[in-house]
Amino acid sequence: MFEPSVYEGRRRALVSLLAGRGAGSGLVAFTGNRESPMNYADNAYRFRQDSCFLYYFGIAEPDLAGTLDLATGRATLYANELTMDDLVWTGPRPCVDDYKALCAAYSAAPRTRYVVDLSASKEPILFVPPYRAETVLELSRALDLAPDRVAAAGSVPLIQAVVAQRELKEAREVAQIEEAVDTTIAMHRAVIAAAQPGVTEARLMAEAYRVAYAGGGMPSFPAIATTKGSVLHNHGYPGSLSAGGLFLLDAGAETAAGYAGDLTSTFPVSRTYTDRQKAIYQIVLDAGAAGASLMKPGTPFREAHLAAARTIAAGLKSLGIMHGDVDEAVAAGAHACFFPHGLGHQLGLDVHDMENLGEVWVGYDGEPKSTMFGLKSLRMAKPLKAGMVMTVEPGIYFIEGLIAAWKAEKRHASFIDYAEAGRWLDLGGVRNEEDWLVTADGARRLGGAFDKSVAAMEGYRA
Ligand code: GLY
Ligand code: MN
Ligand code: MN
Repeated sequence: MFEPSVYEGRRRALVSLLAGRGAGSGLVAFTGNRESPMNYADNAYRFRQDSCFLYYFGIAEPDLAGTLDLATGRATLYANELTMDDLVWTGPRPCVDDYKALCAAYSAAPRTRYVVDLSASKEPILFVPPYRAETVLELSRALDLAPDRVAAAGSVPLIQAVVAQRELKEAREVAQIEEAVDTTIAMHRAVIAAAQPGVTEARLMAEAYRVAYAGGGMPSFPAIATTKGSVLHNHGYPGSLSAGGLFLLDAGAETAAGYAGDLTSTFPVSRTYTDRQKAIYQIVLDAGAAGASLMKPGTPFREAHLAAARTIAAGLKSLGIMHGDVDEAVAAGAHACFFPHGLGHQLGLDVHDMENLGEVWVGYDGEPKSTMFGLKSLRMAKPLKAGMVMTVEPGIYFIEGLIAAWKAEKRHASFIDYAEAGRWLDLGGVRNEEDWLVTADGARRLGGAFDKSVAAMEGYRA
């Protein structure tokens, strides 16, 4: 974690942001995460702290909570003292006073007081929508509200203030994300080096995780390590690599402090891309470059997405898979048959940063989101600001069921040559993902050298 003053400063800034939104009093409740059992209580998933708690209190230990009194600016940390059983089974750890000092809280109280104090508060309780059942239940008791009504009772001014604060990364956060991206690059290079015909997807998933854990943190999300790149979030690893095929790795590491990297590479199992693979791969690289070239403060990320979509449509047109006017095709959404997702998302303490706070605020500033196929999956459309960290991750996919369904209904038939598209199904899917920091006058790719050109990708396999 960072030094204590960082957390005190962030909480002070949050108090000011909320005062500016008319919330000059109230008690903000930050519920830390608990251990999460896999199949029985003592067999837990690896612990991951809640990112809001991590941002404002910094301590990555289970069973903590905090409150922030908006009238006084005072924070209380709720934590339990170590018991003898804890000491025996999980070893020594800081006492509550030490925890209080680590996050520069004004006071500390036993964890069991958290719900009691929230219930007794005369001031309104503000919280962000919870995503874990145990947090829902705790807030349900604290607020005397049915569990299924808790998420909707999250405070919009608090959500807006947290988004405004967390989306502008501090220099120390950018350094953390860059460290995560560097570990992520090492993951990708290790997987590329280990890949060859006959190797299993599971072996390559393990290779990626080996590097992530060795970096001191852990994977930032379940890796996609697949020969079937056309399944966008393919989280199974049942297959093995075949000569002539492609392998898609979408995997990242997070640092010990919780900051994420998120990269995707698509490379040929047999060292060199076939001509058709090369053609599609190059269009995806060009689409990423087109999107990234537009990124600067004030430009809506939707424009970067649409620039990437036009590059993809133009590229597919050059291959005879699409036809007609490129701008019209993209305006109609025809390209989404091959690029059905968004260009990217914010990146930070979460791999999809702050997604639990609601896309409407994180990506849309409260504006309505398109319901059009393709655009409805764009997580971020709003204007960029210096200090934001974004992924740029265009892709081209030949999704058999989607192509068949659109062909049957002759959807966008004036823009898509379905007979030609059908001849590309065996190519699967290609995605390239990079992580970018928006700067004062543009954007810069984060992380060390990782050349994704065709020549470089083929060279890594030599
Ligand atoms: N890892 C999922 C994504 O790239 O958004
Ligand atoms: Mn990714
Ligand atoms: Mn991503």
